[in-house]
Amino acid sequence: MSAAGRAFAAALLALAGTAGAGEIKSGSAFLSPQMQRQQADQARNPGWLWVEQGEELFSRREGDAPGCISCHADPGRSLRGAAARYPQIDAASGKLINLEGRIEQCRAVRQKRPALGHESQELLGLAAYVASLSQGVPVSVSAEGAAKPYYEAGKAFYERRQGQLNLACTQCHDGLVGRKLRGDTISHGVGTGYPAYRLEWNGLGSLHRRLRACSLGVRATQFDYGSDDYLALELYLAVRARGLPVEAPGLRR
Ligand code: HEC
Ligand code: HEC
Repeated sequence: MSAAGRAFAAALLALAGTAGAGEIKSGSAFLSPQMQRQQADQARNPGWLWVEQGEELFSRREGDAPGCISCHADPGRSLRGAAARYPQIDAASGKLINLEGRIEQCRAVRQKRPALGHESQELLGLAAYVASLSQGVPVSVSAEGAAKPYYEAGKAFYERRQGQLNLACTQCHDGLVGRKLRGDTISHGVGTGYPAYRLEWNGLGSLHRRLRACSLGVRATQFDYGSDDYLALELYLAVRARGLPVEAPGLRR
């Protein structure tokens, strides 16, 4: 580790342990009041542009393939609450999938169309649209049965020190909650606002993109979008967030 890296890690650890664990809050609770208002205002939160594009795509037919809407009529009712139950075990494969994975599966299996691809504007739009239909619905994922090993792996990941800075997620997102780091206020690190519009990205991004940023921040391995490692972590974060409302599309710095 570089001297600067060591000094940074030491300074962080000197702060750690003081902030309370307590009740888990959404990431938006740590934004400035101004950004909170902007997130809540559909006209000023740019994430809604992706929601609109997603809705348009959802309703469109592509060639012979049935549109999403042909199977998911009245999505405001039929898909309300769906996003709050992801990630979940896919009955067909027995594997953990997240919302983006489910959408890609519908596309491949039910529409027989090529995958949209991680972080494509189309997939982000569809995920943001479907997630927005669950705004206000409390997160209620299952960590039982076939999901249990993923939950355990996600928890171990969350608690494991990693990277050149040798920091675990928990050291920042439990130990340093409320402290400032490079202009951000450290939150509990839950994913209820994702996909989110980040000013730094100048666009919408998935939770896995945010996780890659945190991995890079501690100079640790960045796992692939949709990897089992990040899916397991996503499940663990969702269990931490149980009962908190879905807020996507969030707005972040
Ligand atoms: C060095 C401290 C640090 C470590 C270690 C760290 N993060 Fe973060 N993380 C941050 C900061 C700073 C932010 C941006 C402010 C915020 O929302 O907390 C952030 C943001 C996040 C967010 C987005 C929250 C939101 O609402 O936008 C998630 C999710 C997250 N981190 C998860 C993790 C996970 C999982 C790990 C472990 C792999 C991790 N972080 C490791 C500092 C850290
Ligand atoms: C031919 C019919 C069909 C088409 C077209 C289709 N789906 Fe689905 N979709 C389904 C079925 C059936 C399920 C239930 C799958 C399961 O549980 O295995 C489902 C499940 C879902 C779910 C999860 C719902 C839940 O409660 O967990 C989402 C989200 C979803 N589809 C989104 C989409 C999107 C977005 C598209 C267009 C890209 C799409 N679907 C196209 C049939 C379809």
